[in-house]
Amino acid sequence: MHSPARIVVTRDVPDAALKVLHDAGDVRVSGEDRPLRPEELREAVAGASAVVTMLHDRIDNAFAEAAGPGLRVVSNVAVGYDNIDVPALRAREVVVTNTPGVLTDATADLTFGLLLAVTRRLGEAERLLRAGTPWSFHLGFMLGTGLQDKTLGIVGLGQIGQAVARRALAFGMRIAYTGRKRVTEDVEKALDTTYLTMDELLREADVVSLHCPLTPATRHLINAETLRAMKPGAFLVNTTRGPVVDEPALAEALAGGVIAGAALDVFEKEPEVEPRLLTMENVVVTPHLGSATVETRTEMALLAARNVASVLAGNGPLNEVRA
Ligand code: GLV
Ligand code: GLV
Repeated sequence: MHSPARIVVTRDVPDAALKVLHDAGDVRVSGEDRPLRPEELREAVAGASAVVTMLHDRIDNAFAEAAGPGLRVVSNVAVGYDNIDVPALRAREVVVTNTPGVLTDATADLTFGLLLAVTRRLGEAERLLRAGTPWSFHLGFMLGTGLQDKTLGIVGLGQIGQAVARRALAFGMRIAYTGRKRVTEDVEKALDTTYLTMDELLREADVVSLHCPLTPATRHLINAETLRAMKPGAFLVNTTRGPVVDEPALAEALAGGVIAGAALDVFEKEPEVEPRLLTMENVVVTPHLGSATVETRTEMALLAARNVASVLAGNGPLNEVRA
């Protein structure tokens, strides 16, 4: 008899997912309430057939080497997989999977929450009340920016970008998009959206919202130059990956009034945030909460567990990443 496959989980997952994993092999969950350090990660995965990973785990050749030749699948509990050197793993015939689809609505909801928070100054307003600052209703008090008939510029019209577009339509916004590829004409029609070049989009959008994956081509896509190309009254929303934005350049642009405000759920060097951003009233920040609902996190972990179970059972992955 074979011994059961060893399944390593790098950070605790919901019970529903653990149950699926327990049925598929011998499960070891990291006992740490923090990301494993690279050397701890390498030690933890020795002899593993499957590893359930988080977006803060660096998965590369050294990781695969540490796991050993029995490694068959790395299942990232995230839609993004910029933490994984996919070609290096594929070269070793290790399957890589992610969790698309199940987090689309949650992430689009958070994006819209941030968009509203920054355009209507909700963080600033909360801080004002909590500080006990005297106030009274008057017609010029804490005015924000309306969304109706404004243009939302979506960078990356994939599943999440499209879900954001649907919400924006309900708010009476116009939708423009750019990205590596155009969507089908049907999708363009349904979202009443037009493809623009990046330059055109930056010039026309009142709000720019980032939904492209982090790749070498999108790293620092938003930088001093592209920020200068935006409208002076425009807002930036980032719920994808921090390094898509050059954070010091953004702080500089906000300080100089180059754009009106920014709402950020992700940061270049998480968990750190460029300190200047935290001093600005026109910046809204949340700690990487795009998919953070009970329902969505359960679905994500379940999907990641099912990917592991399916590969170990010899049935192939449900959501293979090939890039
Ligand atoms: C979260 O950031 C994800 O990629 O799922
Ligand atoms: C605002 O509170 C209004 O009643 O118009």
